Amino acid sequence: MKKKSMFTPEIVQKLSRFRTPFYYYDVGLLRETLETLCQAAEQYDVNVHYALKANAEPHLLSIIREYGLGADCVSGNEIQRALEVGFPPEAIVFAGVGKTDLEIEHALEADIFCLNVESLQELQVIAELARLKDRIASVALRINPNVEAGTHEYITTGREEDKFGIPWKDVPAAVELLQQTPHLRFLGIHFHIGSQITDLNVFKRLCLRVNDIQRWFRQQGLPVLHLNLGGGLGIDYDDPDAHPIPDFASYFQIFDRYLERRADQTLHFELGRSVVGQCGALITRVLYVKQGVERRYAIVDAGMTELIRPALYGAYHQIDNLTAEAGRKSFTYDVVGPVCESSDFLGKDVSLAEVRRGDLLAIRSAGAYAAVMASQYNLRDPAGVVFSDML
Ligand code: LLP
Repeated sequence: MKKKSMFTPEIVQKLSRFRTPFYYYDVGLLRETLETLCQAAEQYDVNVHYALKANAEPHLLSIIREYGLGADCVSGNEIQRALEVGFPPEAIVFAGVGKTDLEIEHALEADIFCLNVESLQELQVIAELARLKDRIASVALRINPNVEAGTHEYITTGREEDKFGIPWKDVPAAVELLQQTPHLRFLGIHFHIGSQITDLNVFKRLCLRVNDIQRWFRQQGLPVLHLNLGGGLGIDYDDPDAHPIPDFASYFQIFDRYLERRADQTLHFELGRSVVGQCGALITRVLYVKQGVERRYAIVDAGMTELIRPALYGAYHQIDNLTAEAGRKSFTYDVVGPVCESSDFLGKDVSLAEVRRGDLLAIRSAGAYAAVMASQYNLRDPAGVVFSDML
């Protein structure tokens, strides 16, 4: 793919008028990403539910909605937000290990497509709440497939020791409950093994495991009409300008090739990061430059409160100096925020064109899991939001 920067001089000039820090979203890139995604989804006949947890900004959600995606939610408030921006209830799925009774009741009232159930006890509670409301709950069992995702420990979800999904030992009891309870409608099975997965072989391993599992379900007399493989497709944090749009076609192709899909089955995915990750950047201004004994610090007005990924996962985000004119020499900086924590950094050992007070920096690939994970620690003001189609 041709490498072009998201930040032309005209855009930088317009951005420099806003109070920092703020999240900037390139809506054009989001649309291109969605077009590519929809083409691939059509080619492989799959349904995509956008995972709101990655970014729940209403303007972005309504664009995503325009392209006909469904929604994947993990809280009652996410369901509420999805409905508010116009996602139809029949395209909403609801996962999460700790759904409260109130959230389950709201989901039943809203008549969403499917609750992805993560424990035996949760299934019992859903059955009971559906009975009290005289409704039928449509459910999929989220099964823990014990597949290693090869990604960061904190975003790995499909191993036996992870808290997610129904452990295999409890699945027979769940099936029995489904078969005995008229208030439960079994739709199918759900998996999500982790996030930021860049090795597609991991998904092949998931497919092989899913094939075994669905065979077992068939033997129990339960047809799996709905196969939900979750999300997890990674993005290129190292070089966002080289790969602004993830390779959705290769991703779906793996499932097409290795999953034993029957004609009566629908295939569902819950993509978050790969949809919105690259279209966002965190824009911050340099407050001070400080030369320590060994390290040179660029102290900026955004920090872990606006982007916690470096502090929490040691994640790398490319940093660009947007305002350095050509010819400035490069130096190595730790780009750090104003928060009173040593873990408050956005990048370490970053090579940047000489940084001066007042420069604007872009922390790239911050469309997913940035704004949604923000906090007001140190009583900091919430960051602003700027969209390219409003400039
Ligand atoms: N479905 C389920 C059940 C999930 O738990 C997740 C993400 C997704 C779908 C969407 O996965 P994606 O396509 O975005 O990989 N805060 C972390 C990521 C946490 C992911 C949580 N679950 C980060 O910043 O890397």
